[in-house]
Amino acid sequence: MRILVTGAEGILGRAIREWLASGNTLYLWGRDEVDVRDPERVALAAKGIEFDAVIHAAAMTDVDRCETEFDLAMATNRDGTRHVASLAKERGATLVYLSTDYVFDGTKESPYLEEDPPHPINAYGRSKLAGEEAARGGAGRSLIVRTSWVFGEGGPNFVDAIVAKLSRGEIPEVVTDQRGSPTYARDLARGLERLLRLGTDGIVHVTNSGETTWHGFAVEIARYLGSTLPIREITSEQTGRKAPRPRNSVLSGERYRSLTGESPPRWEAALHDYLARLSSLKRAAA
Ligand SMILES: NC(=O)c1ccc[n+]([C@@H]2O[C@H](COP(=O)([O-])OP(=O)(O)OC[C@H]3O[C@@H](n4cnc5c(N)ncnc54)[C@H](OP(=O)(O)O)[C@@H]3O)[C@@H](O)[C@H]2O)c1
Repeated sequence: MRILVTGAEGILGRAIREWLASGNTLYLWGRDEVDVRDPERVALAAKGIEFDAVIHAAAMTDVDRCETEFDLAMATNRDGTRHVASLAKERGATLVYLSTDYVFDGTKESPYLEEDPPHPINAYGRSKLAGEEAARGGAGRSLIVRTSWVFGEGGPNFVDAIVAKLSRGEIPEVVTDQRGSPTYARDLARGLERLLRLGTDGIVHVTNSGETTWHGFAVEIARYLGSTLPIREITSEQTGRKAPRPRNSVLSGERYRSLTGESPPRWEAALHDYLARLSSLKRAAA
């Protein structure tokens, strides 16, 4: 497949570059090459290249910053998507739009299904939901993939933050009252490729299998690293963060399973793979 990737320098973009390079032709757009807020730049950069799909991973992902800079969040996450969708439509390519568990309000007791009504409770979620609408309305064929709690190389993420704290001997304070499914960018990238090859459209939830709290996630990181430091339990309120987060944002993997015939690896196994990789990269750099 010939795939154009926006947000190529981000966590997912880097994973796509690494894990989907073989068997595909990738065109990688980082922010320096193409700011997706600029429709002319998007059109110009696409001149002379041909592609079957666009994975639109560029986004403003700092959830608390979206709260105070909502115009920028909308310009990036909604308008940027509109520009990329229009390019995909013009070229007859499938648009894959990455969306988020934060389109839900977290009041459901069980995992969210693709058809559950979205009701975001923060600015990031509202801007990403507006992006979903832009993707659906503006593209010919579109696939909206909602994911959650992404970790991997290429940007600030929860796993790296906990590893850094523990290695400095600091005790991490982590919330116990938000549930979700961690997702290794490698498994997400592979999931996107599978769905694209199947010609899937509509909405699909893709995360690693299983669920936990942020606290449970941190405990597993510490356990794998053999750290004896405790992980201190706190509530969302105690974090003092600007944006509220949903209490439950576990996404059901049923549709993905019925489409592909398989489930992504458990989050614990994916985390161990990533941590092993981090330590081998560190050894290589030493
Ligand atoms: N990370 C998560 O936990 C998570 C969870 C659910 C859904 N998602 C979605 O998954 C997708 C990929 O996320 P990710 O984890 O790879 O995020 P990421 O690491 O923040 O990557 C996003 C990339 O987009 C770039 N970008 C921002 N504004 C741009 C613009 N105007 N034009 C072009 N590029 C721009 C960023 O550049 P700068 O770094 O220079 O800003 C960054 O390289 C996003 O759509 C995100 O909303 C992520």
